[in-house]
Amino acid sequence: MNLTLKIWRQKDANDKGKIVDYKINDISPDMSFLEMLDVLNSELITKGDEPVAFDHDCREGICGSCSLYINGEAHGPDRLVTTCQLHMRKFKDGDTIFIEPFRAKAFPVIKDLVVDRTAFDRVQHAGGFISVNTSGNTQDANSIPIEKVNADKAFDAATCIGCGACVASCKNSSAMLFVSAKVSQFALLPQGQVEATDRVLNMVNQMDEEGFGNCTNTGACEVECPKGISLENIARMNREFLTASLKG
Ligand code: SF4
Ligand code: FES
Repeated sequence: MNLTLKIWRQKDANDKGKIVDYKINDISPDMSFLEMLDVLNSELITKGDEPVAFDHDCREGICGSCSLYINGEAHGPDRLVTTCQLHMRKFKDGDTIFIEPFRAKAFPVIKDLVVDRTAFDRVQHAGGFISVNTSGNTQDANSIPIEKVNADKAFDAATCIGCGACVASCKNSSAMLFVSAKVSQFALLPQGQVEATDRVLNMVNQMDEEGFGNCTNTGACEVECPKGISLENIARMNREFLTASLKG
């Protein structure tokens, strides 16, 4: 496949940034999107040009670090996959592909396609954990029965990889899908009840402090989420937040 790439280049956080055109030839349809960018970067390095900076780690849909906006969609045109799992067979020979960073006030661009998503870490630190006494008297997990339906929903919520596609695809740059997944994975389980009130209040407050927008039920986040996190989690977080606010 021969392609034209229109890639966002930005030297650093203070640079204005612009789209730069690149031609790339002989790309196999079986390559992943990131492998195609690797080919481009080795060509740029051979010519003595600056390679394109982009985030990646696991390259198998687990770490959530690959965050590209491809032809106007977070993680590109395929459904339920991350950018690293996207294959070039989703494109056609002769295509022009626009590649941009995830854009949101709370995700400032660091360089080229790399954005700072530490806002998510701070939301997690605000309450996305449980405290367990591990000093030798830990209760056997199987001694607390959990309804299958709740176990399944908690597991589904826990599959959120913190990629930020929900924020990037939301017209309000809302992080509600991410935060609600992190709240739900504990809210549905008995182990999560001890800190439930503080958790939801602290995480939602941190989310607001970071500058994420509010949810207006458009649902773009659910469509673009590579892990299929359901909007049902946002409804659950809203209920948890209301209950916690009344208690507080
Ligand atoms: S909810 Fe989905 S899109 Fe948002 S951070 Fe989690 S995995 Fe990514
Ligand atoms: S590189 Fe880890 S999810 Fe894509």
